[in-house]
Amino acid sequence: MTDTAGARLDLLREGGVVPRHIAIIMDGNGRWASERGLPRSAGHQAGMGAVRETVEGCLAAGVGVLTIFAFSQENWQRPAAEIDALMALLEEYVAREASELRTQGVRVRMLGDLERLQPAARAAVDSIENRTAGGGALDLNICLSYGSRAEMVRAARLLARRVRDGEMDIDAIDEAAFAGQLLTAGWPDPDLLIRTSGEMRISNFLLWQLAYAELYVTAVLWPDFTREDLFTAVLDYQRRDRRFGRINA
Ligand code: FPP
Repeated sequence: MTDTAGARLDLLREGGVVPRHIAIIMDGNGRWASERGLPRSAGHQAGMGAVRETVEGCLAAGVGVLTIFAFSQENWQRPAAEIDALMALLEEYVAREASELRTQGVRVRMLGDLERLQPAARAAVDSIENRTAGGGALDLNICLSYGSRAEMVRAARLLARRVRDGEMDIDAIDEAAFAGQLLTAGWPDPDLLIRTSGEMRISNFLLWQLAYAELYVTAVLWPDFTREDLFTAVLDYQRRDRRFGRINA
């Protein structure tokens, strides 16, 4: 860890509440690569290092849940070569990181429409989930083939089916029941959303769960994102006045 990162970590530990759950839209891999005259896949490869940095930063800061957006449902429309490179990277990530994540106490879950993955990628998902299932230090949710609207439609269907089958009264459908059918059921909502590369968009990510999240956008491109940047975002979060629609006394 650099001196500055260490100093920021000390500051955030003194500074107050650390977010229980951080969500991240990892953006800017393509721009990072083209700035260097490299193929887009090189940006994604470099982005894997930033994932490692962020996981280690969350462990050091005591964040309980980290949810990262690795591949959206819309990303299936990218050129086949880029999709193949991203899936190969997923397999590489599992091969390279699973045992270290297990040692660190990180429990990995993949959230999304995993049925669309090729068998090798699907096997990688099952492997990392099984190998890290016992982790208790940090929950790492990797959103893969994920779209928030589709997630909500799925939740609505699951509830409708339960009502139709007489397992549930229609008036029992409330916010908690709906949240209980989302892929994030059981985790607290994100307190902080970080988006890299300066774009001011939510991009169909955790639309329900981010209702009261604090938003933090940084111009840093994802492959350059370090734990120091993570701590800077948390320090900014600690200065926010979270009111959840109420007023402070
Ligand atoms: C957005 O950058 C990033 C992605 C679509 C992929 C994210 C993947 C990784 C960070 C690496 C893999 C990580 C794991 C855990 C397997 P972009 O391509 O949209 O960049 P651009 O907006 O500059 O074109």
